[in-house]
Amino acid sequence: MDVTDVQRLPAEQRFADELVRLRDNDKNDRPKGWQLSPRAVRSFVLGDSKLDVSQKFFGDDPLVDRCIVSLMGQQGLMLVGEPGTAKSLLSELLSAAISGDSNLVVQGSAGILEDHLRYGWNYALLLAEGPSERALVASPVLTAMRDGKVARLEELTRCAPEVQDAMISLLSEKTISIPELGPGQEVRATPGFNVIGTANLRDRGVHDMSSALKRRFNFETVQPIADREFEKALVARQVAERMAEHPRATELDEKVVDVLVAVFRDLRTGTTEEGATVATPNSVMSTAEAVNVAHAAALDAYYLDGAKTSTSHIARQIRGVVFKDDPEDARRFRSYIDQIAKARMKRDKAWSEFYKAAKKDLGSL
Ligand SMILES: Nc1ncnc2c1ncn2[C@@H]1O[C@H](COP(=O)(O)OP(=O)(O)O)[C@@H](O)[C@H]1O
Ligand SMILES: [Mg+2]
Repeated sequence: MDVTDVQRLPAEQRFADELVRLRDNDKNDRPKGWQLSPRAVRSFVLGDSKLDVSQKFFGDDPLVDRCIVSLMGQQGLMLVGEPGTAKSLLSELLSAAISGDSNLVVQGSAGILEDHLRYGWNYALLLAEGPSERALVASPVLTAMRDGKVARLEELTRCAPEVQDAMISLLSEKTISIPELGPGQEVRATPGFNVIGTANLRDRGVHDMSSALKRRFNFETVQPIADREFEKALVARQVAERMAEHPRATELDEKVVDVLVAVFRDLRTGTTEEGATVATPNSVMSTAEAVNVAHAAALDAYYLDGAKTSTSHIARQIRGVVFKDDPEDARRFRSYIDQIAKARMKRDKAWSEFYKAAKKDLGSL
């Protein structure tokens, strides 16, 4: 299989050359079981211009340091925050840098059972030869313990409380016993093992995390990017990356990114640059969603319009990409357009085109 055919490679493959350079130049101490020193892990996530290592997570350097320190300790690391704040990305980057492997993932959902955290069986082999190492199907957590790697638990709060409880005993005992293989048979965690969980604040209601689980993890809250210029740079760069497979499409104008990011920030925070208050939608107005809108707009402009991406393409994509078909949100967006975007028409062409296209798009509602 040609790697370029895979839609998204794991971080250790996407940035394999960076990891090699970091490793070759790593003169600092490494905790047992780690592929890189904590400093090199930080460079991988936050960038190092001397080694030509790109910055991948933006906006909160001290958070990254705290996460790395936490993973050296006894407790797991739990990243919580709004959807689209790069919790999964950060967990992927940390496990790629620390273990060279970001694939030991359990995706939390109501369907996850305790066995998914421990082990299962290949039933054909189990029937043929009885319980054996060969018939055992290790969970990502068991593999991480055995190999001294970081396991990732995505959306842990979506799992049933019993499953969360099972996680507690795994984290406190750092052992998985496998009685089927014989008395006393177990897998003990080797150095380098730890767990990174992620949880979306919006799911909280689903299954509140137990206090025991909370004690087993260090919690870090990931905030949306606070700095406007950071956010603009990130959106521009990520759209450019996604559009790399369409090399003839032109890059996004700064002005287009500027309008998009302004709209997202106004609606996310509920306060505009001018200090006016606007109703915030239920939909997630994250940087990740802004990238999705810009990407859709760029594809629309290039393939359907044969034109350069403009703010009118952005306006046309916001409803479908962000508000889906939530009529309440569409109403909130309409009042934003009527009150805020309209008043900005006199600023420049980018805003007046945005206003006109949004108005037209919302007209059918
Ligand atoms: N602070 C940030 N630094 C880098 N990328 C970010 C940041 N915030 C959002 N993103 C973008 O948002 C995308 C989605 O993030 P993801 O990890 O799926 O979010 P979450 O798991 O928090 O819902 C990331 O892959 C990245 O493109
Ligand atoms: Mg996620």
